[in-house]
Amino acid sequence: MLKIPRAPGGRRRTDSFSNLETPVHPNAPAPTPANSFIPASFLDSAPSYIDSSLLNLPPSQLLQAAGNLLLQPILPEPMTIQDNKRIIELKKLMQEFHLTDEQLKHIEKRMIMEINWGLAKASNETSNIKSYITYVTQLPTGREHGRFLALDLGGTNFRAILIELEAGTSSINMKTAKHPVSMDLMQGPGEDLFNFMADKLREFMVDHELLGHRYKLGFTFSFPTIQHSLSSADLATWTKGFVCSGVEGNDVGALLEKSISRHADLDIEVCAILNDTTGCLLACAYKRPDCAMGVILGTGTNASYVEDIANVELFEGTPGKHHQVVINTEWGALGNTGSLDFMRTRFDHLVDQNSMNPAKQVYEKLISGMYLGELTRHILVEAAEKKIIFSGCNTEVLQKKELFLTRHISEIEADEVGCTENMIQVLEEINLAEGATDLDYQILRYI
Ligand code: GLC
Repeated sequence: MLKIPRAPGGRRRTDSFSNLETPVHPNAPAPTPANSFIPASFLDSAPSYIDSSLLNLPPSQLLQAAGNLLLQPILPEPMTIQDNKRIIELKKLMQEFHLTDEQLKHIEKRMIMEINWGLAKASNETSNIKSYITYVTQLPTGREHGRFLALDLGGTNFRAILIELEAGTSSINMKTAKHPVSMDLMQGPGEDLFNFMADKLREFMVDHELLGHRYKLGFTFSFPTIQHSLSSADLATWTKGFVCSGVEGNDVGALLEKSISRHADLDIEVCAILNDTTGCLLACAYKRPDCAMGVILGTGTNASYVEDIANVELFEGTPGKHHQVVINTEWGALGNTGSLDFMRTRFDHLVDQNSMNPAKQVYEKLISGMYLGELTRHILVEAAEKKIIFSGCNTEVLQKKELFLTRHISEIEADEVGCTENMIQVLEEINLAEGATDLDYQILRYI
């Protein structure tokens, strides 16, 4: 098993990010200079945290092997001079996506700086990463007991959940109902969205014979919120294609309670509003008390972590006997004012410009599920124009927005190397199978 990397100095969960850097408080964060990087970063210390005994390889070779196996795409072998030209052009096209270790360290450093700026009063407003305070000051102990309801909204699906916890057993018994969230709901009035959730919750409670009792409900709402307490959270801004009116700036807990109150037979207290990354951290901490961070790489990307309250200058009220609080970083907004422009490609800019929220969530748009399909389509359009791929096919279809989905990438990646079963299915689905050659398959896989 690979061990979780520790920064030099042995960062523990209780260490603050602030300890790693002297915080800088600029009025307007400027892009980090290109030559700036963390001198002793996770990347530098990588070889020392790898448990090489597993594979009997020296750590450096193990890293290399992992890189070869998992990270490096396989360049097609050209059979003719013409094919060779296509491969050279392909390499040129994709070169921009290759990040050096120095560039990765630079992004790492920038992210840590911005998390710190978000925590500090003087720089929070201008920081891209806001480091939202969740008011979760305790992690689960494993002694929690009872039946609770939960709602989960944050992407293409909405879930109603019943959770049963048995103290001391770390067992979690869950029942779930999943419902797709339609485009109309994502883009219509907020009231419709909250009424939909309340209606589906009631349906779920009827199905599981839960009516007639009072329940505490946790609401996983996976968007940036300005939290005032555990149960009160104003939506800061929609992300991931949601643009419902009348929600930004309002308390989503109150909106949910209002919709639930339309059903006289529901007796529910909305007692916590959480981000999915915070939920992920808490759920893991329930079984592993040393859990340090919750990270989501899904439709969007984000992370929550445990911070010392002493470093959280915007904490409202008195922390009481607690010394730590979970911070929802909202790191997806990194780069909103240009700090990642040094590595954004023209394809990334196209994805951003055509999105519902241009110039927002810039980091998220570089790596997360909502955007990877479109990113690939833009590359394919240019590769087809340059006759690198699909020169024997009708490539008009590639002009269609959202033709190529992130799930298509996963399906293609799931083919064993050298096998094209899934890929051909994907090409059939998007009407590009006719005329595609073996070299096209190899090139598509490389892209
Ligand atoms: C987006 C949301 C964030 C969420 C993440 C993963 O970045 O703004 O709140 O945690 O997606 O779902």
